[in-house]
Amino acid sequence: MRTLLIIGIGVGDPEQMTVQAIAALNRADVVFMPDKGQEKAALRHLREAICARFIEGPYRSVTIETPQRAEAGDDYRGVVDDWHGRIADAYQRRFAEDLAEGETGALLVWGDPALYDSTLRIVERIRQGGFALDWTVIPGISSVQALAARHKIALNAIGEPVLITTGRKLAAGFPDGQGSVVVMLDGEQAFAKIAPEGLEIYWGAYLGSPDELLIAGRLSEVADEIVRVRAAARARHGWIMDIYLLRRG
Ligand SMILES: C[S@@+](CC[C@H](N)C(=O)[O-])C[C@H]1O[C@@H](n2cnc3c(N)ncnc32)[C@H](O)[C@@H]1O
Repeated sequence: MRTLLIIGIGVGDPEQMTVQAIAALNRADVVFMPDKGQEKAALRHLREAICARFIEGPYRSVTIETPQRAEAGDDYRGVVDDWHGRIADAYQRRFAEDLAEGETGALLVWGDPALYDSTLRIVERIRQGGFALDWTVIPGISSVQALAARHKIALNAIGEPVLITTGRKLAAGFPDGQGSVVVMLDGEQAFAKIAPEGLEIYWGAYLGSPDELLIAGRLSEVADEIVRVRAAARARHGWIMDIYLLRRG
């Protein structure tokens, strides 16, 4: 049987690696590096820093080129399903060719594998397709946790829930009945398009990295500043990852 360790590596700072993640990395015969879209540059630097710093012996590393998703259009689920199928094929090819029976591979996943990441669904899909594989998940520090820690805030109001959603969903408006909403994957700056009255925002970009940016305040007062700072940073770096908490003030 081949074994896979799916390791959350944090979101930009090698010091977010847990003791468990470091131990898992050192158990692996092969380190697989998914290389994808928005995370590409950041992931490349972080994984290099992590492997150089934490792996004690020599190691083999194999990059998995992950196919890009087609434009979603009206059929979002259909497009994502097709994309996952193509990624599963790419992963399975690498596992079959670069991981021998009885060996252990490590898959480095940005942040935590349980949050807006397709790795677990893809590995399950590979297993369902009949490829024998055993796997363990090592949790990592997510961007949600990094955001809260850097702003020194609790995500929830006392006894209240938190909704974690995407920019795509927020574009329809601040969700009814919610007090605290964390928004990820927002390429369209949906926060600047919703009614700002009564809302506070805690925004962070490149969290955990030396380029980290943080802005907080009343949405009506800081939305334009965030749009400006975000655009300038994106132009300077060529990519951006940002996340924010919106809550009723
Ligand atoms: C595909 S999701 C991956 C999330 C990841 N699994 C996690 O645990 O945070 C990518 C989104 O996570 C958020 N994100 C990830 N890393 C970030 C960082 N260092 N700074 C700010 N946002 C980040 C952004 O909202 C980005 O669009």
